[in-house]
Amino acid sequence: MTPYEVRGKVDYDRLMEEFGTSELTVELASKLEKKCGKTHFLSRRIFYSHRDLDKVLSAWEEGKEFYLYTGRGPSGPVHLGHLMPWIFTKYLQECFEVKLIFQMTDDEKFLYSEGMNLEEAKKWAYENSLDVIALGFDPKRTEIIMDTEHISLLYEIAIKVAKKINFSLVKAVFGFDSSTNVGLIFFTSLQAAPAFLESERRGEKIPCLIPCAIDQDPHFRIARDVAPKLGYPKPSLILSKFFPSLSGANKMSSSSPEGSIYVTDSEEEVARKIRNAFTGGQATIKEQREKGGNPEICSVFQYYFYLFEEKDSKLMERMKSCKSGELLCGECKSELIERVLSFLRDHREKREKARDLMQEFVPEEFRD
Ligand code: TYM
Repeated sequence: MTPYEVRGKVDYDRLMEEFGTSELTVELASKLEKKCGKTHFLSRRIFYSHRDLDKVLSAWEEGKEFYLYTGRGPSGPVHLGHLMPWIFTKYLQECFEVKLIFQMTDDEKFLYSEGMNLEEAKKWAYENSLDVIALGFDPKRTEIIMDTEHISLLYEIAIKVAKKINFSLVKAVFGFDSSTNVGLIFFTSLQAAPAFLESERRGEKIPCLIPCAIDQDPHFRIARDVAPKLGYPKPSLILSKFFPSLSGANKMSSSSPEGSIYVTDSEEEVARKIRNAFTGGQATIKEQREKGGNPEICSVFQYYFYLFEEKDSKLMERMKSCKSGELLCGECKSELIERVLSFLRDHREKREKARDLMQEFVPEEFRD
Protein backbone atom coordinates (compact mmCIF):
# COMPACT_ATOMS: atom_id res chain seq x y z
CA MET A 1 0.00 0.00 0.00
CA THR A 2 1.05 3.55 -0.79
CA PRO A 3 -1.01 6.77 -0.58
CA TYR A 4 -1.54 6.29 -4.34
CA GLU A 5 -2.54 2.65 -4.46
CA VAL A 6 -4.20 0.10 -2.21
CA ARG A 7 -3.95 -3.38 -3.72
CA GLY A 8 -5.67 -6.56 -2.55
CA LYS A 9 -7.07 -7.29 0.86
CA VAL A 10 -5.79 -5.03 3.62
CA ASP A 11 -4.32 -6.76 6.65
CA TYR A 12 -4.43 -3.95 9.21
CA ASP A 13 -2.22 -5.59 11.81
CA ARG A 14 0.43 -6.39 9.24
CA LEU A 15 0.28 -2.84 7.92
CA MET A 16 0.93 -1.49 11.38
CA GLU A 17 3.96 -3.72 11.62
CA GLU A 18 5.24 -2.89 8.15
CA PHE A 19 4.77 0.86 8.59
CA GLY A 20 6.13 0.77 12.14
CA THR A 21 3.11 2.46 13.72
CA SER A 22 1.89 1.58 17.21
CA GLU A 23 -1.31 -0.06 18.27
CA LEU A 24 -3.86 2.31 19.77
CA THR A 25 -4.29 0.37 22.99
CA VAL A 26 -7.45 0.21 25.05
CA GLU A 27 -5.67 2.28 27.74
CA LEU A 28 -4.76 5.05 25.33
CA ALA A 29 -8.20 5.04 23.68
CA SER A 30 -9.80 5.23 27.14
CA LYS A 31 -7.62 8.18 28.04
CA LEU A 32 -8.90 9.98 24.98
CA GLU A 33 -12.51 8.95 25.61
CA LYS A 34 -12.29 10.04 29.22
CA LYS A 35 -11.46 13.54 28.08
CA CYS A 36 -13.56 13.70 24.91
CA GLY A 37 -16.49 11.36 25.45
CA LYS A 38 -17.28 7.94 24.08
CA THR A 39 -17.06 7.35 20.35
CA HIS A 40 -17.57 4.20 18.31
CA PHE A 41 -14.54 5.25 16.23
CA LEU A 42 -12.35 4.30 19.20
CA SER A 43 -14.36 1.56 20.89
CA ARG A 44 -14.68 -0.36 17.58
CA ARG A 45 -11.01 0.19 16.77
CA ILE A 46 -11.83 2.05 13.56
CA PHE A 47 -9.07 4.44 14.63
CA TYR A 48 -6.70 1.72 15.66
CA SER A 49 -3.13 2.85 15.29
CA HIS A 50 -0.95 5.88 16.06
CA ARG A 51 2.43 7.49 16.24
CA ASP A 52 3.24 9.37 19.45
CA LEU A 53 -0.38 10.08 20.32
CA ASP A 54 0.56 9.40 23.94
CA LYS A 55 3.18 12.14 23.79
CA VAL A 56 0.75 14.80 22.54
CA LEU A 57 -1.79 13.82 25.19
CA SER A 58 0.76 13.83 28.01
CA ALA A 59 2.13 17.18 26.89
CA TRP A 60 -1.44 18.51 26.72
CA GLU A 61 -2.03 17.40 30.31
CA GLU A 62 1.02 19.43 31.28
CA GLY A 63 -0.43 22.50 29.58
CA LYS A 64 1.41 22.27 26.25
CA GLU A 65 -0.87 23.04 23.33
CA PHE A 66 -1.02 21.28 19.97
CA TYR A 67 -2.93 21.66 16.73
CA LEU A 68 -4.66 19.31 14.31
CA TYR A 69 -3.78 18.87 10.67
CA THR A 70 -5.51 16.85 7.99
CA GLY A 71 -6.35 17.16 4.29
CA ARG A 72 -7.80 16.10 0.99
CA GLY A 73 -6.50 15.50 -2.53
CA PRO A 74 -9.38 17.00 -4.52
CA SER A 75 -9.73 14.64 -7.46
CA GLY A 76 -13.53 14.68 -7.65
CA PRO A 77 -16.53 14.64 -5.30
CA VAL A 78 -15.86 13.27 -1.82
CA HIS A 79 -17.27 9.91 -0.77
CA LEU A 80 -18.37 8.73 2.66
CA GLY A 81 -14.93 7.24 3.32
CA HIS A 82 -13.29 10.66 3.06
CA LEU A 83 -15.77 12.14 5.50
CA MET A 84 -14.98 9.55 8.16
CA PRO A 85 -11.58 10.86 9.32
CA TRP A 86 -12.90 14.42 9.12
CA ILE A 87 -15.85 13.59 11.40
CA PHE A 88 -13.34 12.18 13.86
CA THR A 89 -11.15 15.28 13.45
CA LYS A 90 -14.13 17.41 14.39
CA TYR A 91 -14.64 15.31 17.52
CA LEU A 92 -11.03 16.08 18.46
CA GLN A 93 -11.33 19.78 17.66
CA GLU A 94 -14.47 20.14 19.76
CA CYS A 95 -12.86 18.30 22.63
CA PHE A 96 -9.51 20.09 22.79
CA GLU A 97 -10.69 23.42 21.32
CA VAL A 98 -7.61 23.55 19.15
CA LYS A 99 -6.74 24.88 15.75
CA LEU A 100 -7.14 22.74 12.62
CA ILE A 101 -5.14 23.23 9.45
CA PHE A 102 -6.84 21.54 6.50
CA GLN A 103 -4.74 21.16 3.36
CA MET A 104 -6.36 20.90 -0.09
CA THR A 105 -3.73 19.43 -2.37
CA ASP A 106 -5.06 20.48 -5.77
CA ASP A 107 -1.43 20.46 -6.99
CA GLU A 108 -1.07 16.79 -5.99
CA LYS A 109 -4.16 15.68 -7.88
CA PHE A 110 -3.19 17.71 -10.93
CA LEU A 111 0.23 16.05 -10.90
CA TYR A 112 -1.10 12.58 -10.21
CA SER A 113 -4.12 12.28 -12.47
CA GLU A 114 -3.25 11.96 -16.13
CA GLY A 115 -6.55 13.39 -17.37
CA MET A 116 -6.99 16.23 -14.90
CA ASN A 117 -6.19 19.82 -15.79
CA LEU A 118 -5.34 22.42 -13.18
CA GLU A 119 -8.64 24.29 -13.48
CA GLU A 120 -10.52 21.10 -12.69
CA ALA A 121 -8.36 20.29 -9.67
CA LYS A 122 -8.92 23.82 -8.36
CA LYS A 123 -12.65 23.52 -8.91
CA TRP A 124 -12.69 20.31 -6.87
CA ALA A 125 -10.62 21.98 -4.15
CA TYR A 126 -13.37 24.57 -3.81
CA GLU A 127 -16.18 21.99 -4.00
CA ASN A 128 -14.53 19.66 -1.47
CA SER A 129 -13.94 22.59 0.91
CA LEU A 130 -17.72 22.99 1.08
CA ASP A 131 -17.94 19.40 2.34
CA VAL A 132 -15.33 20.10 4.98
CA ILE A 133 -17.08 23.25 6.17
CA ALA A 134 -20.47 21.46 6.12
CA LEU A 135 -19.21 19.10 8.83
CA GLY A 136 -19.24 22.01 11.25
CA PHE A 137 -15.61 22.81 12.03
CA ASP A 138 -15.14 25.90 14.17
CA PRO A 139 -14.44 28.79 11.74
CA LYS A 140 -12.44 30.64 14.40
CA ARG A 141 -10.10 27.72 14.75
CA THR A 142 -9.97 26.26 11.25
CA GLU A 143 -8.17 27.29 8.10
CA ILE A 144 -8.27 25.63 4.73
CA ILE A 145 -5.05 25.94 2.79
CA MET A 146 -5.45 25.53 -0.96
CA ASP A 147 -1.99 24.62 -2.16
CA THR A 148 -1.99 26.51 -5.45
CA GLU A 149 -3.56 29.61 -3.93
CA HIS A 150 -1.79 29.82 -0.58
CA ILE A 151 1.54 28.36 -1.59
CA SER A 152 3.53 31.20 -0.03
CA LEU A 153 2.61 29.79 3.40
CA LEU A 154 4.15 26.44 2.59
CA TYR A 155 6.88 26.94 0.04
CA GLU A 156 9.79 27.85 2.29
CA ILE A 157 9.04 24.95 4.62
CA ALA A 158 8.58 22.59 1.69
CA ILE A 159 11.97 23.37 0.14
CA LYS A 160 13.68 22.93 3.51
CA VAL A 161 12.02 19.51 3.77
CA ALA A 162 12.80 18.66 0.13
CA LYS A 163 16.49 19.32 0.64
CA LYS A 164 16.58 16.55 3.27
CA ILE A 165 14.90 13.90 1.10
CA ASN A 166 16.48 12.10 -1.81
CA PHE A 167 14.99 10.49 -4.88
CA SER A 168 15.73 6.93 -3.82
CA LEU A 169 13.79 7.36 -0.57
CA VAL A 170 10.75 8.74 -2.40
CA LYS A 171 10.98 5.93 -4.96
CA ALA A 172 11.08 3.31 -2.24
CA VAL A 173 8.30 4.78 -0.12
CA PHE A 174 5.79 5.64 -2.87
CA GLY A 175 6.70 3.05 -5.48
CA PHE A 176 7.71 5.74 -8.00
CA ASP A 177 10.13 5.04 -10.83
CA SER A 178 12.18 7.02 -13.33
CA SER A 179 9.09 7.76 -15.42
CA THR A 180 7.29 9.53 -12.53
CA ASN A 181 6.95 13.25 -13.13
CA VAL A 182 9.23 15.40 -10.96
CA GLY A 183 6.29 17.32 -9.48
CA LEU A 184 5.04 14.19 -7.77
CA ILE A 185 8.54 13.38 -6.56
CA PHE A 186 8.68 16.78 -4.83
CA PHE A 187 5.11 16.66 -3.60
CA THR A 188 5.60 14.85 -0.28
CA SER A 189 7.57 17.88 0.94
CA LEU A 190 4.42 19.96 0.48
CA GLN A 191 2.26 17.52 2.38
CA ALA A 192 4.79 17.69 5.22
CA ALA A 193 4.76 21.50 5.35
CA PRO A 194 1.48 22.11 7.26
CA ALA A 195 2.76 19.79 10.00
CA PHE A 196 5.45 22.40 10.67
CA LEU A 197 3.56 25.56 9.78
CA GLU A 198 2.50 26.56 13.28
CA SER A 199 6.03 26.10 14.59
CA GLU A 200 7.27 28.32 11.79
CA ARG A 201 4.57 30.94 12.30
CA ARG A 202 5.01 31.15 16.04
CA GLY A 203 8.76 30.68 16.20
CA GLU A 204 8.49 27.90 18.77
CA LYS A 205 7.91 24.16 18.64
CA ILE A 206 4.15 23.54 18.38
CA PRO A 207 3.26 19.85 18.21
CA CYS A 208 0.80 18.67 15.62
CA LEU A 209 -1.60 15.71 15.57
CA ILE A 210 -2.73 14.28 12.25
CA PRO A 211 -5.94 12.22 12.07
CA CYS A 212 -6.26 10.30 8.78
CA ALA A 213 -6.58 6.81 7.33
CA ILE A 214 -3.46 4.70 7.37
CA ASP A 215 -2.79 5.14 3.62
CA GLN A 216 -1.34 8.61 4.30
CA ASP A 217 1.18 7.36 6.83
CA PRO A 218 4.08 7.06 4.32
CA HIS A 219 4.09 10.84 3.80
CA PHE A 220 4.36 11.43 7.51
CA ARG A 221 6.97 8.75 8.10
CA ILE A 222 9.20 10.89 5.91
CA ALA A 223 8.07 14.11 7.61
CA ARG A 224 8.90 12.61 11.01
CA ASP A 225 12.39 11.60 9.85
CA VAL A 226 13.09 15.07 8.60
CA ALA A 227 11.53 17.04 11.50
CA PRO A 228 14.41 16.93 14.00
CA LYS A 229 16.92 17.83 11.30
CA LEU A 230 15.01 21.06 10.77
CA GLY A 231 14.31 21.78 14.42
CA TYR A 232 10.58 20.96 14.22
CA PRO A 233 8.70 18.56 16.50
CA LYS A 234 7.82 15.22 14.91
CA PRO A 235 4.14 15.18 13.93
CA SER A 236 1.95 12.66 15.79
CA LEU A 237 -0.67 10.60 14.02
CA ILE A 238 -3.92 8.86 14.82
CA LEU A 239 -4.73 6.40 12.04
CA SER A 240 -7.91 4.71 10.90
CA LYS A 241 -8.88 1.70 8.90
CA PHE A 242 -10.77 2.25 5.65
CA PHE A 243 -14.46 2.74 5.32
CA PRO A 244 -15.23 -0.21 3.05
CA SER A 245 -16.52 -0.40 -0.47
CA LEU A 246 -20.00 -1.71 -1.23
CA SER A 247 -18.37 -4.24 -3.51
CA GLY A 248 -16.95 -6.05 -0.50
CA ALA A 249 -13.42 -4.66 -0.95
CA ASN A 250 -11.66 -3.17 2.06
CA LYS A 251 -11.48 0.39 0.88
CA MET A 252 -14.10 2.72 -0.49
CA SER A 253 -12.13 4.25 -3.30
CA SER A 254 -12.76 6.71 -6.11
CA SER A 255 -11.37 4.10 -8.49
CA SER A 256 -14.52 2.01 -7.93
CA PRO A 257 -17.51 4.38 -8.26
CA GLU A 258 -20.18 1.66 -7.96
CA GLY A 259 -18.78 0.66 -4.58
CA SER A 260 -18.64 4.25 -3.33
CA ILE A 261 -21.31 6.66 -2.21
CA TYR A 262 -20.47 10.22 -3.13
CA VAL A 263 -22.02 13.26 -1.50
CA THR A 264 -23.14 14.26 -4.98
CA ASP A 265 -24.95 10.98 -5.81
CA SER A 266 -28.65 11.28 -6.55
CA GLU A 267 -31.09 9.48 -4.26
CA GLU A 268 -31.69 6.93 -7.02
CA GLU A 269 -27.96 6.27 -7.36
CA VAL A 270 -27.56 5.80 -3.62
CA ALA A 271 -30.46 3.36 -3.52
CA ARG A 272 -29.19 1.45 -6.57
CA LYS A 273 -25.64 1.13 -5.21
CA ILE A 274 -26.87 -0.16 -1.85
CA ARG A 275 -29.36 -2.53 -3.48
CA ASN A 276 -26.49 -3.99 -5.55
CA ALA A 277 -24.09 -4.18 -2.61
CA PHE A 278 -22.19 -7.30 -1.71
CA THR A 279 -23.73 -8.95 1.36
CA GLY A 280 -23.15 -12.00 3.46
CA GLY A 281 -26.63 -13.26 2.65
CA GLN A 282 -27.75 -16.62 1.28
CA ALA A 283 -28.92 -17.22 -2.27
CA THR A 284 -32.62 -17.55 -1.42
CA ILE A 285 -34.94 -16.26 1.30
CA LYS A 286 -35.63 -19.83 2.37
CA GLU A 287 -31.94 -20.51 2.87
CA GLN A 288 -31.45 -17.19 4.62
CA ARG A 289 -34.23 -18.04 7.09
CA GLU A 290 -32.65 -21.44 7.74
CA LYS A 291 -28.95 -20.63 7.85
CA GLY A 292 -28.86 -16.90 8.57
CA GLY A 293 -26.47 -14.37 7.02
CA ASN A 294 -22.83 -13.61 7.61
CA PRO A 295 -22.40 -10.02 8.82
CA GLU A 296 -18.61 -10.41 9.09
CA ILE A 297 -18.22 -10.33 5.33
CA CYS A 298 -21.22 -8.11 4.55
CA SER A 299 -20.52 -4.63 3.21
CA VAL A 300 -23.98 -3.43 4.30
CA PHE A 301 -23.28 -4.48 7.87
CA GLN A 302 -19.90 -2.73 7.65
CA TYR A 303 -21.73 0.49 6.79
CA TYR A 304 -23.63 0.27 10.05
CA PHE A 305 -20.45 -0.64 11.88
CA TYR A 306 -18.38 2.27 10.57
CA LEU A 307 -20.83 5.14 10.34
CA PHE A 308 -24.52 4.38 10.47
CA GLU A 309 -25.11 2.68 13.83
CA GLU A 310 -23.27 4.30 16.66
CA LYS A 311 -25.13 2.43 19.41
CA ASP A 312 -23.38 -0.83 20.27
CA SER A 313 -26.55 -2.49 21.57
CA LYS A 314 -28.39 -1.76 18.31
CA LEU A 315 -25.48 -3.03 16.26
CA MET A 316 -25.41 -6.27 18.25
CA GLU A 317 -29.15 -6.69 17.78
CA ARG A 318 -28.73 -6.29 14.04
CA MET A 319 -25.92 -8.81 14.00
CA LYS A 320 -27.92 -11.36 15.96
CA SER A 321 -31.06 -11.04 13.87
CA CYS A 322 -28.98 -11.32 10.69
CA LYS A 323 -27.24 -14.45 11.91
CA SER A 324 -30.48 -16.03 13.06
CA GLY A 325 -32.13 -15.51 9.68
CA GLU A 326 -34.76 -13.20 11.12
CA LEU A 327 -33.45 -10.14 9.28
CA LEU A 328 -33.33 -10.38 5.49
CA CYS A 329 -30.78 -8.54 3.38
CA GLY A 330 -33.50 -6.59 1.58
CA GLU A 331 -34.79 -5.14 4.86
CA CYS A 332 -31.32 -4.38 6.10
CA LYS A 333 -30.53 -2.58 2.84
CA SER A 334 -33.77 -0.58 2.90
CA GLU A 335 -33.00 0.72 6.38
CA LEU A 336 -29.48 1.60 5.34
CA ILE A 337 -30.73 3.47 2.27
CA GLU A 338 -32.95 5.58 4.54
CA ARG A 339 -30.10 6.34 6.93
CA VAL A 340 -27.64 7.22 4.20
CA LEU A 341 -30.17 9.43 2.43
CA SER A 342 -31.08 11.23 5.62
CA PHE A 343 -27.38 11.83 6.34
CA LEU A 344 -26.82 13.10 2.79
CA ARG A 345 -29.87 15.39 2.79
CA ASP A 346 -28.64 17.05 5.95
CA HIS A 347 -25.08 17.24 4.65
CA ARG A 348 -26.16 18.81 1.35
CA GLU A 349 -28.19 21.45 3.10
CA LYS A 350 -25.18 22.41 5.22
CA ARG A 351 -22.97 22.20 2.15
CA GLU A 352 -25.06 24.84 0.36
CA LYS A 353 -24.87 27.15 3.37
CA ALA A 354 -21.09 26.64 3.43
CA ARG A 355 -20.78 28.71 0.22
CA ASP A 356 -21.34 31.86 2.28
CA LEU A 357 -18.88 30.77 4.97
CA MET A 358 -15.90 30.08 2.73
CA GLN A 359 -14.19 33.39 3.50
CA GLU A 360 -14.06 32.56 7.20
CA PHE A 361 -11.82 29.56 6.53
CA VAL A 362 -9.20 31.38 4.48
CA PRO A 363 -5.77 31.40 6.19
CA GLU A 364 -5.13 34.47 8.35
CA GLU A 365 -2.48 35.86 6.03
CA PHE A 366 -4.90 35.90 3.09
CA ARG A 367 -7.92 37.52 4.70
CA ASP A 368 -8.98 40.97 3.50
P1 TYM B 1 -7.35 11.71 -0.10
O1 TYM B 1 -8.10 12.78 -0.82
O2 TYM B 1 -6.98 10.48 -0.83
O3 TYM B 1 -8.16 11.29 1.17
C1 TYM B 1 -8.66 12.26 2.10
C2 TYM B 1 -8.71 11.61 3.48
O4 TYM B 1 -9.57 10.49 3.47
C3 TYM B 1 -8.90 9.33 3.90
N1 TYM B 1 -9.50 8.22 3.16
C4 TYM B 1 -10.30 7.33 3.75
N2 TYM B 1 -10.64 7.19 5.04
C5 TYM B 1 -11.45 6.16 5.36
N3 TYM B 1 -11.93 5.30 4.45
C6 TYM B 1 -11.63 5.39 3.14
N4 TYM B 1 -12.13 4.54 2.28
C7 TYM B 1 -10.76 6.46 2.74
N5 TYM B 1 -10.24 6.87 1.56
C8 TYM B 1 -9.48 7.94 1.83
C9 TYM B 1 -7.42 9.58 3.63
O5 TYM B 1 -6.60 8.84 4.50
C10 TYM B 1 -7.34 11.07 3.95
O6 TYM B 1 -7.23 11.27 5.34
N6 TYM B 1 -2.63 13.45 -0.06
C11 TYM B 1 -3.89 13.45 0.66
C12 TYM B 1 -4.35 14.85 1.02
C13 TYM B 1 -3.69 15.38 2.27
C14 TYM B 1 -3.80 14.84 3.58
C15 TYM B 1 -2.98 15.66 4.39
C16 TYM B 1 -4.50 13.74 4.08
C17 TYM B 1 -2.87 16.47 2.34
N7 TYM B 1 -2.44 16.65 3.63
C18 TYM B 1 -2.90 15.40 5.77
C19 TYM B 1 -4.39 13.48 5.45
C20 TYM B 1 -3.57 14.30 6.27
C21 TYM B 1 -4.97 12.77 -0.19
O7 TYM B 1 -4.86 12.67 -1.39
O8 TYM B 1 -6.05 12.37 0.55
